[in-house]
Amino acid sequence: MKNFVFENKTKIYFGKGQIENLGKETARFGKKVLLVYGGGSIKKIGLYDEVIGRLNDFGLTVYELAGVEPNPRHTTVNKGAAICKKERIDVLLAVGGGSVIDATKAIAAAAKYEGTDCWDLVSGKASVKETLPIITVLTLSATGSEMDGGCVISNMDTNEKLGYFAPDNNPDVSFLDPTYTYSVSAYQTASGSADIMSHVFDVAYFTTSDQMDMLLRVQEEVLKTVVRFAPIAIKNPENYEARANLMWASSWALNGFIYDGLRQSAACHAMEHELSAFYDITHGHGLAILTPRWLRYVLDEKTAPRIKRFGVNVFGIDRTLSDSDGADASITALENFYFVTLGLKSRLSDLGIDDKNFKIMAEKACKVRGGSLQGFATLYPSDVEKIYRLCL
Ligand code: NZQ
Ligand code: ZN
Repeated sequence: MKNFVFENKTKIYFGKGQIENLGKETARFGKKVLLVYGGGSIKKIGLYDEVIGRLNDFGLTVYELAGVEPNPRHTTVNKGAAICKKERIDVLLAVGGGSVIDATKAIAAAAKYEGTDCWDLVSGKASVKETLPIITVLTLSATGSEMDGGCVISNMDTNEKLGYFAPDNNPDVSFLDPTYTYSVSAYQTASGSADIMSHVFDVAYFTTSDQMDMLLRVQEEVLKTVVRFAPIAIKNPENYEARANLMWASSWALNGFIYDGLRQSAACHAMEHELSAFYDITHGHGLAILTPRWLRYVLDEKTAPRIKRFGVNVFGIDRTLSDSDGADASITALENFYFVTLGLKSRLSDLGIDDKNFKIMAEKACKVRGGSLQGFATLYPSDVEKIYRLCL
C-alpha cells in the first residue's frame, strides 16, 4: 500500500431535472459562456433548447462551438480557444460525451495560454498554468471525464492521440442526469461500458502491487455494476436504474477514489490510443478488443491469482479451479461478456484494420511512456506488437 493524495473538486448534481440549477451555477463564474457540443445529438434530444433556456433565464451571453468530433481534434480546440480570447469568455459549458468534455478542458487551458496551438500543452511542450472554469452536462457514460482531470486530444496530422491529467482540469460542476443517456445507441452503450471496466482494470485492478482491500472490493463492485446494468440498458435504453448505475460507475471508475497511490502505464489505454490515432476508432471498442488478448499475453504464475480473483468475484467463476485454469476461465468470461452479451465485434480486422502500422504504433505507445509499459507486466514494443497481432 502506498501513500496517496485524494482530491476532487468537482461538484455533482445527479439525477432527473437537476438542470434547473444550471443557470445559477454558470452565473457564479461570469456572464459570457462558451457552449461546446458535438455533432448534434443534444439537439435531437431537446437538451440544447433546455440548456439555452436555462442560461437565458440568468441573462448570460452564449457563444457556441459546435461539431466537436469523437476523438476530438487539436484544430477544434484551437478554434474554441480563439473564441475565448476574442470574446473574453468567462466560463465554458460542455454538453456531451467524453470527447466534448475533453475538448472543453483543453480549450479552458489553451484560452489562458499565450501561444496559439493547444498541442504545445497536450504534448507537454508547455505546461498548463491556468484554466477557465468548466461546467459539464454529461450525455454518455464512459470516460469519467465529467469528474476527473484527464483530457485526451488527437492530432490527425501526426497520428498522435495524447492525454494529460491535471487537477485544475477537473470540471467545477457536472450535471449527471441519466435520462440524457436514454438516446445513446446500443453500440456506444457497449463501448462506453467497456471503457468504464477498462479504467478499473488498467489504472488499479490488474496490478501485482499491494492494494488496500477495501479499494479492491470497491473496484469489483464497480465492475459488477457494469456487468449487471449494461445489458439492461442495451435491451431497454430507457431503464432509469440501469442508466443511473452506469453513469455513476463511469464517474467513480476514474475520479481518483479507487486507486491508492498506484502509478502504472494503463497498458490497454496506451495501446488503444494508438489505434484511435491511426484509425479513428471508438475508444471503448478498441479497449474491449485489446483487453482479453492483453490478459492472455501477460498470464503467468505472478498474474494468474489476480485474474482468477476477478473472474470469481465478478463473473462467479468456480473458485476451486487452479490459479491458471481460473484465470483462463475468467478471460473467457470477459470475452463472452464483450463479444456475445454486449455484441461488440471481436477483432481489429472487423474494423478494417490490418497489421501495416502495428510496429510503429507499438513503438509510439512505449516511447511516450519511457520505452516500455509498466504495470501488471512490463511490455516492450515487441510485446505490444504481438498483442496487436493477437487482436487481428
Ligand atoms: O457528437 P454527438 O452528436 O454528441 O454524438 C456522440 C458521438 O457520436 C454520441 N453521443 C453522445 N451522447 C449521446 C450521443 N448519441 C446519442 N445520445 C446521446 N445522449 O456518441 C458518440 C461518441 O461520443 P464521445 O464523446 O466520443 O464518446 P465517449 O464519451 O466515449 O468519449 C470518448 C473520448 O474520451 C477519451 C477517449 O479517448 C475518446 O477520445 N477519454 C477520455 C478520458 C478522460 N478524460 O479521462 C479517459 C478515457 O480513457 C478516454 O481516453
Ligand atoms: Zn478509457
